[in-house]
Amino acid sequence: MEARLSGWNTRLAQLTSSKNPYDSLTPPLVQTSTFVFPDAQTGGARFSGGESGYVYTRLGNPTVQLFEEAVANLEGAEAGVAFASGMGAISGVLMPLLKSGDHLLCSEGVYGSTFGLLEFLAERFQIGHTLSPLQTEEQIEAAILDNTRAMYIETPINPTLSLVDIGLVAKIAHRRGLMLIVDNTFMTPYWQNPIALGADVVIHSATKYLGGHGDVIAGIAVGKTEFMRTVRLSTLKDVGAVLSPFDAWLLLRGMRTLALRMEQHARNAQRVVEFLANQPAVMLLHYPGLFGGAQQSILKRQMRSPGAMISFELRGGMEAGIAFMNHLRLIKIAVSLGDIHTLIQHPASMTHCLVPRDERLRMGLPDGMVRLSVGVEDADDLIADLSQAFEQL
Ligand SMILES: Cc1ncc(COP(=O)(O)O)c(C=O)c1O
Repeated sequence: MEARLSGWNTRLAQLTSSKNPYDSLTPPLVQTSTFVFPDAQTGGARFSGGESGYVYTRLGNPTVQLFEEAVANLEGAEAGVAFASGMGAISGVLMPLLKSGDHLLCSEGVYGSTFGLLEFLAERFQIGHTLSPLQTEEQIEAAILDNTRAMYIETPINPTLSLVDIGLVAKIAHRRGLMLIVDNTFMTPYWQNPIALGADVVIHSATKYLGGHGDVIAGIAVGKTEFMRTVRLSTLKDVGAVLSPFDAWLLLRGMRTLALRMEQHARNAQRVVEFLANQPAVMLLHYPGLFGGAQQSILKRQMRSPGAMISFELRGGMEAGIAFMNHLRLIKIAVSLGDIHTLIQHPASMTHCLVPRDERLRMGLPDGMVRLSVGVEDADDLIADLSQAFEQL
């Protein structure tokens, strides 16, 4: 009889324990580029799909597959395809979905390189896009064009942290026969489950909270078996941004402590937000937990936590923001997030430097804004570091 899996920590610890031919406690790392066929006929049969079995790691690998199944399981999806980066997953999903002349409707505010990809698709392949706040039914309906093929949202939006109602967007998308793709990087399945809210595809930069330890670049998309098969056989196989087995193994290792880490990230973020809210130098503070009105209702409906990402703008704009970052000692200046270390970055000159200034300002991202990814260190130490940096301003 299978042991009853009660809570998240148990579920995460058990994720990879089935389908392990060696009975090893931890998942096997199958670090191989190719697989040996017992005979030529089997090789041919595996290529033609007449027989299941591994062929070549770009097409599938047992360790990578364990990672794909683990994320699909946590997201409540049928299947997953892993990629060498979050951007690999985003382009891997958009390319088989869109063709020249199509249009993609996106949340107003997407990760800088996602914006770069949208611009590239527009310039080179005439695939248009619109960035819209997508806050009300009327606004969403009005932004859908005759050639809109899919909708793509981030929520919370990087780095303004404003929220999009996944259930509302999914309802309208399905009414119009459109696929909804959600980038769930900032929340992880621990805090938000877009598929349960109606999304068709969920994407992660697994580089962030899923991996959690700053030692891997990876991405994953999960969704329905048929669409994921198309993604695997088109962009994964033929474009080839494939995840290495060792990186999949590192991700599986990191994911076993996802729940523990997320709880500590959230506790720390709460303390840091309370501290920042009382700093006279902080002019604007963005954190979903501080939102009121409709944004607060969205939070309550779809998120189990306000998360651990905070952005703020200092009085004195860009110069003050940069000086503040340079005074920090424990908190590192680095452009990633979801790491056990607390990281700070300046979106206007770093992650969002590709976004033209007016577009960036329209996304609610001013020149002086800094973004903090709160790690799992002791909150008192983080606050002491922030405090000494404020004193030096
Ligand atoms: C929300 C979001 N999506 C996608 C990406 C891209 O992920 P990767 O850096 O793994 O390619 C990032 C990277 O920061 C991100 O923040």
